[in-house]
Order: sequence, then structure tokens, then C-alpha cells
Amino acid sequence: MGFPLAGPEASRDSETRSASAKFTPLPKMAASIGAVTSRALHSRRYHRKLLSGGRGLFSGARRLVAEGETHFGFQNVSETEKGEKVYHVFESVAKKYDIMNDSMSLGIHRLWKDILLHQMNPYPGTQLLDVAGGTGDIAFRFINYVRSQWEHQIKQKLKSHQNLSWEEISKSYQEEELKLPGGSQVVVCDINKEMLKVGKQKAQHLGYSEGLSWVVGNAEELPFNDNKFDVYTIAFGIRNVTHIDQALQEAYRVLKPGGRFLCLEFSQVNNPLISRLYDLYSFQVIPVLGEIIAGDWKSYQYLVESIRRFPAQDEFKAMVEDAGFLKVEYRNLTSGIVAIHSGFKL
Ligand SMILES: C[S@@+](CC[C@H](N)C(=O)[O-])C[C@H]1O[C@@H](n2cnc3c(N)ncnc32)[C@H](O)[C@@H]1O
Repeated sequence: MGFPLAGPEASRDSETRSASAKFTPLPKMAASIGAVTSRALHSRRYHRKLLSGGRGLFSGARRLVAEGETHFGFQNVSETEKGEKVYHVFESVAKKYDIMNDSMSLGIHRLWKDILLHQMNPYPGTQLLDVAGGTGDIAFRFINYVRSQWEHQIKQKLKSHQNLSWEEISKSYQEEELKLPGGSQVVVCDINKEMLKVGKQKAQHLGYSEGLSWVVGNAEELPFNDNKFDVYTIAFGIRNVTHIDQALQEAYRVLKPGGRFLCLEFSQVNNPLISRLYDLYSFQVIPVLGEIIAGDWKSYQYLVESIRRFPAQDEFKAMVEDAGFLKVEYRNLTSGIVAIHSGFKL
């Protein structure tokens, strides 16, 4: 049985809304705004009920499900259905994914991703696998980071050789200009072709090509050999995976000994006031933004619900350890709205 956030009435409602919110004729637009308002009121009433139950209700949302079942947001569904539904969500949001990320997080997701890269601190030569890499945000940051590391190294080297000619200096820059320094590589792997398509277009537009490849693949069954990568990242992806334990085992398998697992994911807020405001924002504002910007209330409702179903920091840490990783730790960002989990294959 599903968690009763969206009853049959609500889903009928949102289906009509998705179809009508294409912002064409004025009466249609008015109807769409009307639908958003009525949906928002419905959601507010329901949300007030949830809040009156306190965090207990949200943590109840993490409850166990029957054999062969899993959760899709607050609904319990079969495992096959979950994969299909998740695919449909990202297929539907792909084109608006980046603009929605900026709008929903007020740009803060960029900062979280930058922090992930600083924590990774890749060096020229690092081989990165970014799973559930979507539109390439982590991959592009990786390329920028490796390039700036390399430029820093080369400056230091040139500074220590005072008598180099202009030709020698210029040559040392040109050698690495075209390829990613040190032979670094980043593979973006995602199950969703539409997300990858948007990512590839973005890469072309921004001028990223060397050392970057795009692979369609499932986190639970990665199409890569054992012991291949130095770093495995998964940003805002793992909560969408049906069998998280399987994805973690795959992360372990494809990493080289000494390799690092890094996961950036929404987590549990540790400040009661921020938690309350965050819940209000998530349930009242995000689906509305989803409807207005992307014409897709349901996908963004799934997003906020899936965050509540994801294990809290310590629970997820134990799962990472169970997969075999050592030195597992996590770091909360923005009062635990997100956390970065790190572990090593030693
Ligand atoms: C919220 S997006 C994150 C994209 C990107 N990592 C970022 O931080 O912007 C989640 C991504 O996970 C992908 N995904 C969901 N289930 C997956 C699976 N089983 N294997 C690989 N990717 C998956 C989706 O297709 C989607 O692109």
C-alpha cells in the first residue's frame, strides 16, 4: 500500500495538470495556474497532517517493505515497477533537469558538488567513474579540477627552473593542452539515455571532450571490468537505485585496490528548526516549481518523497561498510540536508 500523500484523486489531478501545463493559450494557462493552486492547497492540508505527526511520520516512511516490493517515493511498488518509474521520471525531467536544480536549490547544489570535488582532490592521471552521472556536472568539475591541478604543478616546475627558454615553457603547456593532463579519464555512466543526451550536448557546448566518455549502464550491474577506477562517485543518484546494496558491491568491484568511493546524497537534517523549514519548502514549494518550470508536478513530488525514504547518515554508513569499504566516514553539509559519504577499497 502506498503512503497516502497522493491519493487517486491527487494523481488524476496531476495527470490532467501535466497535460494542461504547456503554457499555450491563455485559458489553458489560467487552468494550469488553477490546478497548481488547488494542488498546492491539497498538498498543504496533507503536509500539515504530516507535520503534526512530527518527524516520526517521515521516518516511518523509511519503514520496511514486503518481499519483492520496494518504494517509489512514499508508494510501495514492485521492484520492476520502481526501475520503470524512476526511468520515466528522469526521461521526463531531462531537458529541464539543470534549470530545476538551480531553481530548487537556489544554486546551492553547485557548491555541494564543488565540495565533493575538493574532497576527492583528484590528481592528473586519476581515472574516475561517475555513476548516475546524468547531465555531467561532476564530470565537468573533475576536468576543471584536474586541469587546474596540472597548471599549478607546471607553474611550480617552471618556477624552479629559472633558465628555461620561452620555447621550452610554451612547449610544456602545449603538450597537455589537448588531452586531459596525465591521461586522466572520466566515464559518466547513467541508466537514462535522455539524461546522457542532455549531458553530451552540454559537454559539446562547453567544450569538454578529451578524457570524457558517456556510457549507458545500470549502477547495479556496471558494464566495466574489476579494479578499473581510482575513484567512484555517485551524486544524488543512489537513492533512485532499486537495490542499493548491489550498487555498493558494484562500486567496490570496479574500484582499484586503494580506490575511493564518494557519494553525495540528500540526508537527514540535524537541526529541528531547519528540518521544519526544509520540510515545508520541500513539500510546498518544490512540486509547485516542478509544475511551473517543467510542467511536471509528479516527478518533483517523487524527488522530495524519495529523499525521505533514503537511509539516514549512520544507516547508510553501515551499508557502505557492509559492501566491504574501510575507513568509512561522512560529512554533513548544510545541516545534513546533504551528506558526503566516503570509503576506501583497501
Ligand atoms: C538526480 S539525478 C543526478 C544526476 C547527477 N549525478 C547530478 O548530480 O546532477 C539521478 C540520476 O540517477 C540516474 N539513475 C537512476 N537509477 C539508476 C541506476 N540504476 N543506474 C544508473 N543510473 C541511475 C538517473 O537516470 C539520473 O540521471
